[in-house]
Amino acid sequence: MRIGMLGTGDVAKALAKGFATLGHDVKVGSRSAGNGKATAIAKELEGKGSAGTFAEAAAFGEVVVLATLGSANPEVLKAAGADRLRGKVLIDATNPLDFGGGAPRLFLGHTDSGGEQVQRLVPEARVVKAFNTVGNAFMFRPVFAGGPPDMFFCGNDAAAKKTVEDILVSFGWQTVDLGGIESSRYLEAMCMVWVIHGIRSGTWTHAFKLLRK
Ligand SMILES: NC(=O)c1ccc[n+]([C@@H]2O[C@H](COP(=O)([O-])OP(=O)(O)OC[C@H]3O[C@@H](n4cnc5c(N)ncnc54)[C@H](OP(=O)(O)O)[C@@H]3O)[C@@H](O)[C@H]2O)c1
Repeated sequence: MRIGMLGTGDVAKALAKGFATLGHDVKVGSRSAGNGKATAIAKELEGKGSAGTFAEAAAFGEVVVLATLGSANPEVLKAAGADRLRGKVLIDATNPLDFGGGAPRLFLGHTDSGGEQVQRLVPEARVVKAFNTVGNAFMFRPVFAGGPPDMFFCGNDAAAKKTVEDILVSFGWQTVDLGGIESSRYLEAMCMVWVIHGIRSGTWTHAFKLLRK
């Protein structure tokens, strides 16, 4: 599959490496052509990677991943282009975090969420929220003493969710479908549980698992 990666941070790098390891072709998109971080990630993908702008990555991908700073989502998606994302599966791995002083906080919640904002910004893309509740170090092939952790995901389009669920399983996750994109309100709050536990414990090696009888 062709994957368009929007972003050049730790999440984009971890997911790009995961996709490439599984044999997918990845174009890493950034705000400017020739971005050094995008080029460096692409180079690490050993023949499966290339670099370009957000628009080029969006056009390239059969599946596109949004992995940029949450507050930049409107400008990133504007640059990617709603037309280029029309009908495509858009995995939203972002969190609406405000880093303006002290510990990060959500700048959206209760009655709205980053996932819903993303779906409104690109209404004809098929947005699935996923990968936002775990650290980048564990996004691909997570290994924990308690067995495979669960990746919670949500979105409005059943076929898009099936595509993302298949990707999650291929990445080594068990999955939990939380329904429509409005459940992003709770997945983004779960991110804060992950972050606060990290801050309080000083460890960043945890993941969520739903226990089943
Ligand atoms: N870090 C994690 O482990 C983790 C885990 C789960 C979810 N997340 C979420 O995943 C997303 C990515 O996280 P991250 O840690 O990889 O990186 P990040 O620092 O949150 O974002 C980096 C990316 O955002 C781009 N960016 C920043 N400001 C921008 C702007 N104004 N316009 C366009 N692009 C802009 C950067 O581009 P430039 O290089 O050009 O600045 C870079 O590609 C975030 O929403 C985060 O909350 C992170």
